[in-house]
Amino acid sequence: MTWAVSALGLLAAAGCRGPEFTQAAIDRAMLGAGLPSTFWLSVATSAYQTEGNTNSDWEDWELGKFPDGTPHVYGGIPSGRADGSWDLWAKDIAAMEYLGANGYRMSLEWSKLEPQEGQWDEAAFAHYREQLTALRKAGIEPLVTVQHITLPKWVAAHGGWEWDGFVDALARHAAKLGEHYGDLVDNWCTINEPNAIFTVAYVIGRWAPGVTDTARGMQVYARTLDAHAAVAKALRATDTVAARGPEHPATFIGLAHNMVVQQPASSSPLDLLSTSYGDDVVNEMILRGAATGNIDVLMPGQAEIHRFNPDLKGSFDYIGLNYYRRTYVRVDANWGIAVRSFTPAGDWQTGLGWSIDVEGFYDTLKRCAKYGLPVLVTENGAATDDDNLRQQYLRAHIYALERAIADGVDVRGYYHWTLADNFELNDGFHQKCGLFSLDPNDPALTRVPRGSAETFREIARGMGRTPRDVLP
Ligand code: BGC
Repeated sequence: MTWAVSALGLLAAAGCRGPEFTQAAIDRAMLGAGLPSTFWLSVATSAYQTEGNTNSDWEDWELGKFPDGTPHVYGGIPSGRADGSWDLWAKDIAAMEYLGANGYRMSLEWSKLEPQEGQWDEAAFAHYREQLTALRKAGIEPLVTVQHITLPKWVAAHGGWEWDGFVDALARHAAKLGEHYGDLVDNWCTINEPNAIFTVAYVIGRWAPGVTDTARGMQVYARTLDAHAAVAKALRATDTVAARGPEHPATFIGLAHNMVVQQPASSSPLDLLSTSYGDDVVNEMILRGAATGNIDVLMPGQAEIHRFNPDLKGSFDYIGLNYYRRTYVRVDANWGIAVRSFTPAGDWQTGLGWSIDVEGFYDTLKRCAKYGLPVLVTENGAATDDDNLRQQYLRAHIYALERAIADGVDVRGYYHWTLADNFELNDGFHQKCGLFSLDPNDPALTRVPRGSAETFREIARGMGRTPRDVLP
């Protein structure tokens, strides 16, 4: 029981780091100066949340309601054309040039590329080719996510993640991506947030397919790792060209792992034990799985999965870290899985009610470094109407990132979530995460820079980059 042993360590880690992380120290720092010149200072998006009209399972999900009658997405307003990025991707590139970014995490929408089982849309492949080519021309290194939130409707009809043919179908899709884009893409992210697929889609049922069954969720959680391994293998077999030149590897592969600082709600032994257990399920299982090939999903009183997948072992070239927050953990017998996470009032919080924990970011980076792999911060950002908070959040997290680099962690890139306000899943257009504001009712979908875009530019300048002064 690895999770029981680390309980005391967790309590110790919850303590305060001290003067290094005060607001004054952050304000004094010249941000960007601590980032290597090869660092990818970037933004992250997903196709579904920005492109519009994906033809995916979420387009059906958006129309539904939860058992209490509230719509699946805020106000029942569907994603529709979202940010219009399918047509306006050149504006997104111009926005990145304005920011001084040199990297971009984006996903390629499976439901557009394979709209019917076994039928590939060559025009959609050509579309992404044009976009990826333009990114490279602008000096922006793409990091391409294979699966981010959505599935094609035909996959959902087969049973989605629970379909026995799922792993093979996703791997076949990944092989197509490797064949089509190997000369344009080196950096790949197989799957976005396996632990969110498990908890949000299959335990609490907030995401499609809206299942609330922990035992089924556990099977899916294990399958996300099989799927990652199969996708990584398919990409390595098909993408044999180093887009950046022969001195670089043809592929650099990981997944986006959503790590959440778990803090015990009290020092009671039960809360300590639950926190340690929660930490293992949420955070460590994925890292250990990719290092050893062992898939261990353990839910006391529910079921246990233990198996070995040889293709999983050593399948990370980097650890992709989505870092947003801290959560507090306490035992709650009324909660399906006995452990409950919550956010106390009074913490520094985003609009989603997520506790902001800057030192926790530093600690999490140090924790990733123990695996001896480079790290890409594949997502980090704040959902908020208050752009001052976003500016502070961005500054503080870049500060922590630079501290971690100074202390020896090999962080190669940072991908801010997100470029422009987008369709924030259940929160629809209601939650604002963009460095650029975007009004979905504006016919032109203009990208308007916020103050936080200026903060990003300042970081780029600190790195020695020259952001363009032309607005998108
Ligand atoms: C997801 C994004 C989402 C973001 C902000 C992440 O967990 O990967 O798709 O929009 O959080 O809510």
